[in-house]
Amino acid sequence: MLLYEKVADEIHSAIQDGIYELGDKLPGIRSYAKQRHISVSTAIAAYHALEDQGIIESVNKSGFYVRPQPRKVIELPQVSSKVSQPKAVGSQQMTLQLVNNASKPGIIGLGAAVPDKSFLPIRLMSRYLTKVHKHHLDAVISYDKPAGLMPLRQQVAKRMVAQGCQLLAEDIVITNGCQEAVYLALRSCTQPGDIVAVESPTYYGLLQILESLNLKALEIPTDPLTGISIAALELALEQWPIKACVVVASFGNPLGACLTEEKKQQLVELANDKNLMLIEDDVYGELSHQALRPTLLKSYDLHDKVIYCSSFSKTLSPGVRVGWVASHGKSQRLEYLKYVLNFSSANPGQLAIAQILESGQYDRYLRQVRQQYANATQRLINTLFQLFPSGTRITQPKGGFVIWLELPQKIDTVILANQLLDHNISIAPGSMFTNSQKFSNCIRLSAACKWNRDVELALVKMAEMIARLSVEKADSPLPAAI
Ligand SMILES: Cc1ncc(COP(=O)(O)O)c(C=O)c1O
Repeated sequence: MLLYEKVADEIHSAIQDGIYELGDKLPGIRSYAKQRHISVSTAIAAYHALEDQGIIESVNKSGFYVRPQPRKVIELPQVSSKVSQPKAVGSQQMTLQLVNNASKPGIIGLGAAVPDKSFLPIRLMSRYLTKVHKHHLDAVISYDKPAGLMPLRQQVAKRMVAQGCQLLAEDIVITNGCQEAVYLALRSCTQPGDIVAVESPTYYGLLQILESLNLKALEIPTDPLTGISIAALELALEQWPIKACVVVASFGNPLGACLTEEKKQQLVELANDKNLMLIEDDVYGELSHQALRPTLLKSYDLHDKVIYCSSFSKTLSPGVRVGWVASHGKSQRLEYLKYVLNFSSANPGQLAIAQILESGQYDRYLRQVRQQYANATQRLINTLFQLFPSGTRITQPKGGFVIWLELPQKIDTVILANQLLDHNISIAPGSMFTNSQKFSNCIRLSAACKWNRDVELALVKMAEMIARLSVEKADSPLPAAI
């Protein structure tokens, strides 16, 4: 974190603690810089960062004030009302284009949900990876069990037990990221042609897995605040033989929704009643913007109906590719499937992460980065709110770092995404998050980018293009389906 960001965080905390109340004037920039022994330019950068986030405002050259309240209420995107039919998944190739575009040199990547390096504990990872290569070369170059290295499985199990799950280290299978965990989980409980219920909109990586396993997706309406509709799922279970339901219960992608405790309990009860397997994808659960993470769906699971999947990709490092899948009843099947797929995951990352978890440094890092994600998300939301046309609806996630926007209905965001690419800006259009031609006026943006002038200009450009597309399509009689 840069010094000005640290200073901005401290001022923000002082506001949250009531030291400065809403409407209060903040100290002048020079006197604040003097008082804190920082340069005037650092103080200016900190004040401007808080202004960008909508926390303070500058008033007629008389100084900076704690902003009394948001000028307008930010409206949430609407819940998709269309309950789709189960459908074979296709046309997922376009997602590869997004991933490749996001890593092109010079691109301002706002589409992919990949944390910029400034959010990752690079020095910590580098220290432990070096240590592992130096002191555990034997383990680094050897095969180990398909289920993964025991020290890591023990550390992961310990954390899950602390979250109220009934699990042993033997119930954990280490995977190449959460994507592989979800893939194995689905393979363990479905056959080609089966129906799988998914959130709507849902993470496109899940649609790719369904496509590759020849499974049918049934999209269940999902609320941007409280997640998947249990009532709609219940109704769907009466109509179709649904085998499994994949849910991101804490800070879903792309909506950022979080199921209430009551809903988590209801969902697990429903799974028990209807013999439905729940696959919990918890890749963002640790990135709560508050001090504590939400409970796991798995912690309510007394009858082995939840297969839990997660990874360290959004916290420690996406490139190390370490994730896991956890289930008591299915652990042997999962281990076998992992073995058939690619024998086992690479050892260096597993060893390094096991040691980081054991050292306690993971939790220390999480405490710091949660605030960083909270600030980045709020800053992006406030900036979008200021720049984008009225009528734009924006999610307000309480964790993770992705934001979902619903633009005026006439905007086709695939066209927008292609036009933006010509300006080296990448976004994820809403149609990537569905198998049913919905969300054509929506986009997902990532707040975990390195915030700088280029990003600000990219958002200004995006706002200009949206305004232009609104005018160009003003006469179009076709409403986009939501
Ligand atoms: C909801 C969700 N699940 C799974 C993944 C894949 O995670 P990993 O990189 O650990 O495979 C992602 C990545 O963006 C995600 O958003």
